[in-house]
Amino acid sequence: MEKIALCLALCVYVASGAPWCPQGFVGYGNSCYYLVASRLNWFDADQFCTYLRPKEYSMHLVTVEDSAEQAFLLNEIKKDGVIRERDVWLGASQIDKKRGWRWAPTQKSLSYSYWASGEPGYGKCAYLSWWSNYKWVNTDCHSAKSFICEYNTVNGLPVSPIWPRTTTSRYRTSTSRPVRCPEGFVPFGRSCYYFVPTSLNWFDADQFCTMLVPLTYHVHLVSVESREESDFLYNHLVNDKDLRKRQFWTSGNQLNKRGTWQWARNNHVMSYTNWAPREPNGSGYCLQLWYDKHYQWDDVECDSTPKRHGFICEVESA
Ligand SMILES: *[C@@H]1O[C@H](CO)[C@@H](O)[C@H](O)[C@H]1NC(C)=O
Repeated sequence: MEKIALCLALCVYVASGAPWCPQGFVGYGNSCYYLVASRLNWFDADQFCTYLRPKEYSMHLVTVEDSAEQAFLLNEIKKDGVIRERDVWLGASQIDKKRGWRWAPTQKSLSYSYWASGEPGYGKCAYLSWWSNYKWVNTDCHSAKSFICEYNTVNGLPVSPIWPRTTTSRYRTSTSRPVRCPEGFVPFGRSCYYFVPTSLNWFDADQFCTMLVPLTYHVHLVSVESREESDFLYNHLVNDKDLRKRQFWTSGNQLNKRGTWQWARNNHVMSYTNWAPREPNGSGYCLQLWYDKHYQWDDVECDSTPKRHGFICEVESA
């Protein structure tokens, strides 16, 4: 009898098609969604999504997998008195040209899309456009929009870093065991590196690093902690034509304003240094590799998004 009661409860639950979601969230398929009326840029919006649930739930800007989900979202938007008059960020972007258009939370290409006619055009981030009846349009990631966050109630639970692919090292490493890196990352020593030739400010660059491997939050801007690591980065940068002639962010900073430079990636205080002559000269609190000075180090403003810039992400190998 109990079994039947349990089955009935489960069957009703499954048939209803909506998962249990925390208060304030709405459920559909295997996901819980949260609508945010405040307008933020795409990076800040995604970061805000990660605050809504513990990090291991991997809550991010929404992905839209099919027309039924698009219709569900449209319905939720129309129910919300504020958001229904606004543009709404999606989790799709093409910040890294190598990857092209991807969903930030899964790093999968868009299998379903609902672009307005003539789109995608200029701009690296996609949104549901109020003007186009919530078809998709892309624009500058730094414009401010409302947004929807989503987490998957089935896949979103704690997963330790299991890299989807193995890359073999082109570089001699000090360890004899094979180095396992996520797809597209370059191994060196005990770490894996990813180079992105796109101009973002320091904060957005780090936020983008954290999206590169789904279901982890371990990828951050690089720390450069030895001569060998510095040489490896130098060699990689000068030998890749897509990366040449750009400055690159590292996680080095002195945002604490206490005069000590630190690596945000692991909070190590800097011991190895490779400053360019007469640097740091007080021109900012974040550390870039300076192309004109053979990628020696330079202090610059963290908020700046200079042209011909890029960033390097690092994660320890599995
Ligand atoms: C500090 O270095 C920067 C290069 O990053 C240069 O543009 C700036 O003029 C220098 N400032 C001073 C006060 O020397």
